Amino acid sequence: MKIFIDSGNLKDIEALVPLGIIDGITTNPSLLAKEGGDYRQILKRICDLVQGPVSAEVVATEFEGMMREGRDLAKIDEHIVVKVPFTRDGVKACKKLSEEGIRVNVTLIFSPTQALLAAKVGATFVSPFVGRLDDVATSGMSLIHEIVEIFNNYEFTTEILVASTRGPMHIVEAARMGADICTCPAAVIDSLFNHPLTDVGLKKFIADWEKAQAALAGKA
Ligand code: E4P
Repeated sequence: MKIFIDSGNLKDIEALVPLGIIDGITTNPSLLAKEGGDYRQILKRICDLVQGPVSAEVVATEFEGMMREGRDLAKIDEHIVVKVPFTRDGVKACKKLSEEGIRVNVTLIFSPTQALLAAKVGATFVSPFVGRLDDVATSGMSLIHEIVEIFNNYEFTTEILVASTRGPMHIVEAARMGADICTCPAAVIDSLFNHPLTDVGLKKFIADWEKAQAALAGKA
């Protein structure tokens, strides 16, 4: 399963990319607004750093505007994937941009029918939001299960990009279900590394080794 960082923060990205576990980045207007500055420059720098798919979202809500913004975003770098919201105009723009060779991530997916329609119009990625569904007492991971099941029945090349992840169990469950990608805030990626027994075990290995070395040095 691929792991994307869900962030527009260069420091987060610079810290995680060298570990070798990051396959791409997702941003959205809220994340980029938080960073301030020139969003095109930020996106270009992110593309240079990650050398994988970098989702950048249109803010237009009607077809022509989405097409204009999508084509413009795609010019920033070859790694840009244009994100469009799942609306009728978004679906239409996804089809047209995909036909033009621009990869599209259809975002704000909250139902299996939305994922199916996005796949039918050639989306490269669909982004179901699990955390936001959990927030309204609906199982986000059940949606992933349904989309995986549906996509497995057909020949879609669309990848399932699990978004709005809030903790390590979302990632564990997504991987068990065979979702293609999880996009995670940096803090969630950090949490994937942690296990107290690793820390305790390492401390003991080092202590035992140092004790043995000290004993050998004492004998010399
Ligand atoms: C990424 O593509 C989504 O925009 C993001 O995961 C949404 O996350 P949130 O629900 O935590 O804002």
